[in-house]
Amino acid sequence: MERIVYLDNAATTPVDPAVMEEMRPYFTERFANPMTYTHSSSGDVAHTALEEARIRVASLIGAKPDQIVFTSGGTESDNWALKGVTEKASRERLHRAGHMVTVEFEHHAILHSAVALQRQGYEVSFVKVGHSGIVDPDDVRRAMKPNTVLVSVMHGNNEIGTIQPVTEIARIAHEQGALMHTDAVQTAAHIPIDVETMGVDLLSLSAHKFNGPKGVGILYVRDHQSLYPLLDGGGQEWGLRGSTHNVPGIVGLGKAAQLGKQRLPGELTRLAGLRNALYEKLASRIDRISVNGDMKQRVPQNLNIRIDGIDNEPLLLAMNEAGIIAAGGSACNTQETVASHVLTSIGCDLKEAKSSIRLSLGYGTTDKDIEYAADVIPGLVRFLRSMR
Ligand SMILES: Cc1ncc(COP(=O)(O)O)c(C=O)c1O
Repeated sequence: MERIVYLDNAATTPVDPAVMEEMRPYFTERFANPMTYTHSSSGDVAHTALEEARIRVASLIGAKPDQIVFTSGGTESDNWALKGVTEKASRERLHRAGHMVTVEFEHHAILHSAVALQRQGYEVSFVKVGHSGIVDPDDVRRAMKPNTVLVSVMHGNNEIGTIQPVTEIARIAHEQGALMHTDAVQTAAHIPIDVETMGVDLLSLSAHKFNGPKGVGILYVRDHQSLYPLLDGGGQEWGLRGSTHNVPGIVGLGKAAQLGKQRLPGELTRLAGLRNALYEKLASRIDRISVNGDMKQRVPQNLNIRIDGIDNEPLLLAMNEAGIIAAGGSACNTQETVASHVLTSIGCDLKEAKSSIRLSLGYGTTDKDIEYAADVIPGLVRFLRSMR
């Protein structure tokens, strides 16, 4: 069989077989609507599974189960945090359109939500990031205004993997009376998260980034009173998020969270070791190669490298031909030919951004995968450089 080395786990991960097994009955024999639990034993089975999943997700991030609200994934959670909090705080606290602070290199689920808020008359400040890819908390402090109602800074960047000082930034937000949201889509189940220690009020995560199914995630909501619903509908999720629950998806999310929590300590060390070995091998075999963003303060599964003298598109195609799947910009951006906004935000020019690739490891990545990638990529780079 053709060899596939999948190094695009930041885009998505395969569903773990144990997750799949746990989900399966909830498509067929245990199909009841969990909201019918008050009068139906089948509904009770689905409802119990839902609440078990809530406990498992809560345990992954140190939250209380009733602070976990199920959503359709990271994009919805991010949209909801920004729109739900900004609108509620502005109307009820300030009685006028408020202000929020976020960062230039956030995922588009945040950036485009922030732009949508601006269109509605809210004020948004976009903090800049330097070469390290790590936000300076003092820049957040300087961006705060008397009418700031929300600060949203991602926990781990999806392209360069850098981990942000969320705890310190949350303290700054609170000092000025604002709430703190973090997008932890790239960090949940990859590095330890404790919402209490971090001091965040809201946190987004998505199952498909840690071997759960696509289309399901959560918004951690410290206080249900802090935001308006994004989806008005039935009374599901304490009236905070209407829509019949995606029970199989939620069960899968719960199982993935449970497995992720068990595996985290071992995987953190294993993946960081493999990632570092991959970089060392590549750097010893390819000249003019460098890492984008701080190498130490980054999630263990991410390596984003710049290889001068190549264009990432032909390199990614050649790697794909050789069975190695990786990425240039973020997955949601693959239709665009513009340079990654993350790389340009940390000071790369267009050419540098377009000579960068992201290699992201996952639970399925083996030593042999890394050896293969480290053996094959240098030859492809030499070939492409010789063609210029
Ligand atoms: C940092 C970050 N936020 C949000 C999202 C969106 O999550 P979802 O695909 O679950 O909508 C992603 C997905 O790539 C991401 O990496």
